[in-house]
Amino acid sequence: MPAPSRDPTGASANTPRLLAANLVNDVLLEGASLTQALGNLRGRAPDGLATIQSLAYGVLRNAGRLGFFLTTLCDRPLKPAALSGHLLVGLYELEAGETPAYAVVNETVAAVAGQYPGARGFANAVLRNFQRRRAELEAAAAADPEARWNLPLWWLKRLQAQYPSDWRAIVEAQNAHPPMTLRVNRRRGGVTEYLARLTAVGIEARQIGEWALILGRPVPVGDLPGFFDGLVSVQDLGAQFAATHLGAADGERVLDACAAPGGKTGHLLESHDLDLVALDSDGGRLSRVRENLDRLGLAATLVVGDAADTAAWWDGRPFDRILLDAPCTASGVVRRHPDGKWLKRPEDVQQLARRQHRLMDALWPLLKPAGTMLYATCSLFREENADQVAAFLARHGDARGEAVAATRAGQLLPGPEMDGFFYARLLKA
Ligand SMILES: C[S@@+](CC[C@H](N)C(=O)[O-])C[C@H]1O[C@@H](n2cnc3c(N)ncnc32)[C@H](O)[C@@H]1O
Repeated sequence: MPAPSRDPTGASANTPRLLAANLVNDVLLEGASLTQALGNLRGRAPDGLATIQSLAYGVLRNAGRLGFFLTTLCDRPLKPAALSGHLLVGLYELEAGETPAYAVVNETVAAVAGQYPGARGFANAVLRNFQRRRAELEAAAAADPEARWNLPLWWLKRLQAQYPSDWRAIVEAQNAHPPMTLRVNRRRGGVTEYLARLTAVGIEARQIGEWALILGRPVPVGDLPGFFDGLVSVQDLGAQFAATHLGAADGERVLDACAAPGGKTGHLLESHDLDLVALDSDGGRLSRVRENLDRLGLAATLVVGDAADTAAWWDGRPFDRILLDAPCTASGVVRRHPDGKWLKRPEDVQQLARRQHRLMDALWPLLKPAGTMLYATCSLFREENADQVAAFLARHGDARGEAVAATRAGQLLPGPEMDGFFYARLLKA
């Protein structure tokens, strides 16, 4: 069999189906993040980008179930392994039923043949077997937890142990399509006014939070009135609570310690006139903060640095408030980043918890007496959230935890209108 071509030039080479299969392989075989893989692809400006994205996201959201079908249909490991991306996309489309089955089979087989001519018959047989055995396979999938819930088993077990009465609702919400939520820039206008502008261009929306609107269905940002003039940003409702919970006031000095790409930075600056330092260890991602603030007409001091190594970047002036939106497993946002559930390993939870611990301890001395640190994650796992905060409070006698309104002990659970987030307010004596 010829070596796989990552940049094929055959007739079927650049079909959305083939490019989606390559993205799926980038994530499931190479361990790349979908954002990273899509970023590389966008640079090549392929035709049908929306279809490619929708196929790749669909496959990754359902990879437990589709992987179960594939393993059941193939009696040995695939050779080359990259065939799996094609077959997963084909199986996803056969189940979704939006494209006629004959077209899915023909086009998947053509895409496979373009890259691996020797595998044409095999791909055809797998997809046709799926069609023939579909009812039996679907019944078997319903009895397999990883296939049934589209989550790795370790992740599912953790949710079941930590959320004995909510885990089903959580997983169901996370396997659904996420809504598109906007945050209106209050410096540029009101929510009612912006709703009227959406209605005028035929975009259905309703208000779901103080500055939040949820769209009837997602649209490209370029279709949103005034997006490029900073009238609105795309941001989940759960993420919009950070500004409220931090509780900053005009004139305060604020550190946004893990700021990129700047969703929360923009919100803080829309809400108040702040002397804000936006820090991130990733210079590339920090340039996204600059772009976002430029679009919104806002300003901050941007610093590239490791928040845990304060000696390297801190000028010695303490902060009134610190937002620590810590790196985490992102287990609360998998419906937007479905690659995350397949890329993370159980040991990542402990490893990330250690990083969070280090960041909290390093930043605490930078806070003024009577200042507030808001610790935030987009995770559902207790080790990164409630346990992390309890351990922090036990280590720091000058810290007091304060309840955050409208959450269960700081935990927001994912639901139809919101991703999963965690917030803890830590007050300094
Ligand atoms: C959850 S994201 C932040 C999202 C951001 N607050 C927003 O609302 O758009 C976490 C960020 O932490 C950054 N990060 C990870 N480790 C860091 C460290 N040691 N110091 C500073 N930033 C770090 C990552 O580069 C990433 O941009």
